[in-house]
Parts: sequence; structure tokens; C-alpha cells
Amino acid sequence: MNILAFGASHSKSSINQQFASYVAQLFSAGNQVSVIKLTDFDAPVYTVDREAESGFPEAVKQFLLQLQKADLIIISLAEHNGSYTASFKNLFDWTSRVEMNLFANKKLFLLSTSPGPNGGKFVMEAAKVRFPIHGAAIVGSFSLPRFADNFDAQKGITNMELKEAFDTEIEKVTTAL
Ligand SMILES: Cc1cc2nc3c(=O)[nH]c(=O)nc-3n(C[C@H](O)[C@H](O)[C@H](O)COP(=O)(O)O)c2cc1C
Repeated sequence: MNILAFGASHSKSSINQQFASYVAQLFSAGNQVSVIKLTDFDAPVYTVDREAESGFPEAVKQFLLQLQKADLIIISLAEHNGSYTASFKNLFDWTSRVEMNLFANKKLFLLSTSPGPNGGKFVMEAAKVRFPIHGAAIVGSFSLPRFADNFDAQKGITNMELKEAFDTEIEKVTTAL
């Protein structure tokens, strides 16, 4: 099974990239895991005029190819002002113009984390409503609050209550595969 993972952020020190990479390696036994960085898929700001004048950027086509190769997609969403980061939304908008059904009935494990107490729950809510419209089958979701306090690169989630909730989601995703 091909598993694709990324943080929905273009920050070079993205905590969501760290979290997505960590979760992806939990599925590495018997699977092909690819962790991509959205900084490798930079696209100009989407406008209908730019699309009409220049068509689709190569980075957008390459990003869609990555989605199409995957059986399970793990996305950890960064939250800016209660929603997607502008850079992820831009890539999402471009990709939806190439292929509206960009998730193509694939299974999605949705994550989010932030330094604050809500763990990106607002962007998570937005994605839960929107991604199925683009063909996503969401098989698990988890928001990790206060990343710096609750996550350790070696140990994973260090808060026991959160770890329990996270493990339940991992089980749900594993069962759905
Ligand atoms: C413009 C801006 C808006 C932000 N808005 C939110 C927010 O609404 N909720 C939140 O939890 N964190 C917010 N943050 C903090 C981000 O969660 C934090 O920068 C986090 O590291 C972003 O994830 P990333 O490191 O994966 O890019 C915001 C940060 C920026 C720069």
C-alpha cells in the first residue's frame, strides 16, 4: 500500500510536517511511505486570469500525481486565522482546477497541530466538511494541542490522555486499510 504524508504548510520548520512525518512512520511496516514537503510544490497565487493565460503550473500537476499514487493520505493541517494556510489553500485551489475529485475516493487520515490549546480544530472542521466534496474518505482524525508540550520527536505524544485518543484513531485507520 502506498502512503503519502505531508504537513499542509510551507513553513520550513513546520510542526505539522513533523507531526505528519511521525505519524507516517507508524504505518511503515509492509507499506511504501512517501513524505513530501509542500515547499517542493510552490505555485503562484491562483487567479482565473493566470490560469487562462498560462495554464496549470508543473508543480500543481506533480502534486496531483503524488495524490493519485497514494492509497492512504495523511495530512496534518496548519491553522492560520482559523483556516488553511494561504499557501496550502492556493495549492488546493490550483489542484481542484486540474481535477475537482482530487482525493478520488482515497482514504484520508486528517491531523492538525498548533502551539496553542485548540490544536488547529477550526481548520480541521473546515477540512472535514470540504475534503469529502473532493472525494476524500476520512477514516480518522486527530488534533494535537500545544505541540511543544505534548510531542517529543522520539517518544511521540507524551500526554497520556491525548495518546490514548490518538491510538484509538490509529486503530480506526488501520482497520479501514
Ligand atoms: C498568520 C498566522 C495566523 C495564525 N493563526 C492561528 C490560528 O488561527 N490558530 C492556531 O492555533 N494557530 C495560529 N497560528 C499559529 C500557528 O498554528 C503556528 O504558526 C504553527 O506553527 C503553524 O503550523 P506549521 O508550523 O505547521 O506551519 C497562526 C500563525 C500565523 C503566522
